Amino acid sequence: MKINFSDARPQDADVLAFIVTKTTFADFTFPLENSDIVHATAKLARFEGAAGQSFLLINEEGGKLVRIILVGVADGEAGDYQKAGGDIVAKVQTSGAKHIAIHGANLSAKAAAEAAYGATLRNWRMDKYRTKLAETSKPTVETLTVASAPADASTLWPSYHAIAEGVALTKELVTEPANIIYPESFVERCKHLAELGVEISVLDDKDMAALGMGALLGVAQGSRRPARLLVMKWGGTGGSQERPVALVGKGVTFDTGGISIKPAAGMEDMKWDMGGAGAVAGAMKALAGRKAKAYVVGVCGLVENMPDGNAQRPGDIVTSMSGQTIEVLNTDAEGRLVLCDALHWVQEKYNPEYIVDLATLTGAIIVSLGSEYAGLFSNSDELADKLTAAGKASGDPLWRFPLSKAYDKMIDSPIADMKNIGGKGAGSITAAQFLGRFIKDGVKWAHLDIAGTVWADKAGPLWDKGATGFGVRLLDRFVADNFEG
Ligand code: BES
Ligand code: MN
Ligand code: ZN
Repeated sequence: MKINFSDARPQDADVLAFIVTKTTFADFTFPLENSDIVHATAKLARFEGAAGQSFLLINEEGGKLVRIILVGVADGEAGDYQKAGGDIVAKVQTSGAKHIAIHGANLSAKAAAEAAYGATLRNWRMDKYRTKLAETSKPTVETLTVASAPADASTLWPSYHAIAEGVALTKELVTEPANIIYPESFVERCKHLAELGVEISVLDDKDMAALGMGALLGVAQGSRRPARLLVMKWGGTGGSQERPVALVGKGVTFDTGGISIKPAAGMEDMKWDMGGAGAVAGAMKALAGRKAKAYVVGVCGLVENMPDGNAQRPGDIVTSMSGQTIEVLNTDAEGRLVLCDALHWVQEKYNPEYIVDLATLTGAIIVSLGSEYAGLFSNSDELADKLTAAGKASGDPLWRFPLSKAYDKMIDSPIADMKNIGGKGAGSITAAQFLGRFIKDGVKWAHLDIAGTVWADKAGPLWDKGATGFGVRLLDRFVADNFEG
């Protein structure tokens, strides 16, 4: 969908959308034929411009029938214009309409840009595998024009567009099945970030073996697909930010559980067990796309977790790159094994001041938080507060959980330095404690358990059923608000 900003309503628009508040709707004069009737019809249908309300009707404009959409948002700061934009697109995406015009004259520049942004996010879908989609079910909208908005709206747009492109990459990576996206092809799908100025490097399985990444490689050894470590560096400050922010993603391109195999029902969901890595890739695309003035390194630990004659066994002891040994009691607790080597490696190589890792790490976080919030764990109140604020502002919300010595004890092993599962209870916390053992003193680190938020069973305001793109907007906001001065 192409986004335009223009001074006047385009002649060929077949959807005319208006975003109003209760206050503005009360005496709104629509620049439409029969404005009074449109207003009265909406009122008759109990539309009053309240937040979240919407109404669609057909009206005659210049001798042809067009769709009119009214959407309500709250007055003032609380007005959610992204959601309004998403709502408009969702209503007409497959309606046969081709050109949406959003009336911008009653919007601020920011509200107008945010409406276009929300519409862009909500419009994403993947149809490439549907070869028999009925004509009437195909998306038809090609263009969205924001008409008569304040001139600054079009100046704000490129940054929003860049973030939307990042979210789209994440949704694509998460949606693709595991026969298409595996460690090597994940890397290939990210190579185009180089065109935006991202420096890409890749460690293959031999490189990682030489570095001693026994934990990550132990997970990969049951798969025919070799592991990869994808590294994306965005140096947006020309050297003035000395130590980078590191973003580290769990990229298990499929998680069968390994020898501790998962039940068959629902196992297909584990194609999105690379959602953390997907979010890191999308965030790097967003940051580079809008030329963020920050130094950020993204690292994706990419493996496939399969049962096989060569797969690791419960009880195996592996040595991580840090030298710490791990008793693998459950091969399905593999995400932490992948992350611990990626986390250690990024500290050795880049000496980051902050590390944020994202992972679909535990089913337990879904028990705790469902799909509304992701879990946040951190050794730094400062970093936790910054991430919480970014989450709230961006629409990817976080809820903090505790870390402590008492939980940490639960992963001590009688035969190795640690085991990869805790005891009964606190499954998300013991997973985080495990990761914490690989963070060096003084490094501010946060772990985001996003198992509940990367995939949606039903459509949301800014996504269709399926991949949500969770994490991209959060990380972009975290960087924008704290590192770009
Ligand atoms: N990828 C799963 C976690 C997960 C579960 C993500 C459901 C999304 C939906 C992870 O690798 C896993 O299997 N975790 C185990 C850990 C357990 C064996 C300690 C879990 O949560 O059951
Ligand atoms: Mn698992
Ligand atoms: Zn997993």
